[in-house]
Amino acid sequence: MKIVMLGAPGAGKGTQAKMIADKYSIPHVSTGDIFRANIKEGTALGLEAKSYMDQGKLVPDELTVRILLDRVAKDDCKNGYVLDGFPRTIPQAEVLKDALAKQNDKIDFAIDVDVPDENIVKRMSGRRACVTCGATYHIEHVPPKKEGICDKCGSELILRDDDKPETVLNRLKVYHEQTQPLIDFYNKEGILKTVDGTIDVKDVFANIVAILN
Ligand code: AP5
Ligand code: MG
Repeated sequence: MKIVMLGAPGAGKGTQAKMIADKYSIPHVSTGDIFRANIKEGTALGLEAKSYMDQGKLVPDELTVRILLDRVAKDDCKNGYVLDGFPRTIPQAEVLKDALAKQNDKIDFAIDVDVPDENIVKRMSGRRACVTCGATYHIEHVPPKKEGICDKCGSELILRDDDKPETVLNRLKVYHEQTQPLIDFYNKEGILKTVDGTIDVKDVFANIVAILN
């Protein structure tokens, strides 16, 4: 099963993608997590990505596509995957579609986690993220068992550099201009499913599972 998660920054793509990955035993592939891991390790890729991410801009398609295609070519992706944060532009979606078509393959579901802009900025300021495994928490809605520590891997939780309110507003603007058109793209492909992302995390997940089953 191959799934694409759509939705605004902070809609809960990562939260739901991790739950899907666990339930269906497929890898969770997040371009944002790959970039953050590279930033943490100080690689050249990380340095380049950071200059865009800190401004709330998209990392250029050419670079992002290369990273993503490399990742999904790995062995663990052969039975499917859940993509979180990719594609984010129409050209990225076209490249993915063409690459899969060459292997007689396709994306099965595009799940749009729908959350209005008003809810987003508030959510982001409460988010805490694990730099080691990418797990996300929220100080009110999804707190870790021990404050500041990841339940899954025991690493320290941080407030992401791009979660400052002014950067979040720019990410939302970029989302509406460049990423939202993908909703129409996948609707035309006949695989778009929309879920309400404003309800409780568990209920959003139950609705997604109902779609995937
Ligand atoms: P990326 O890491 O993908 O960030 P994003 O799309 O902005 O999305 P977020 O990770 O911020 O939000 P999310 O939807 O995963 O929400 P989460 O589950 O954490 O990308 C970062 C940057 O990298 C981009 O800006 C860009 O520069 C670059 N980049 C990445 N991919 C790229 C690409 N393909 N092309 C070009 N550039 C790219 O949830 C948010 C918060 O809400 C959490 O605190 C969570 O606990 C809480 N929450 C979740 N669900 C609920 C709920 N139902 N109710 C209450 N709280 C909830
Ligand atoms: Mg995320």
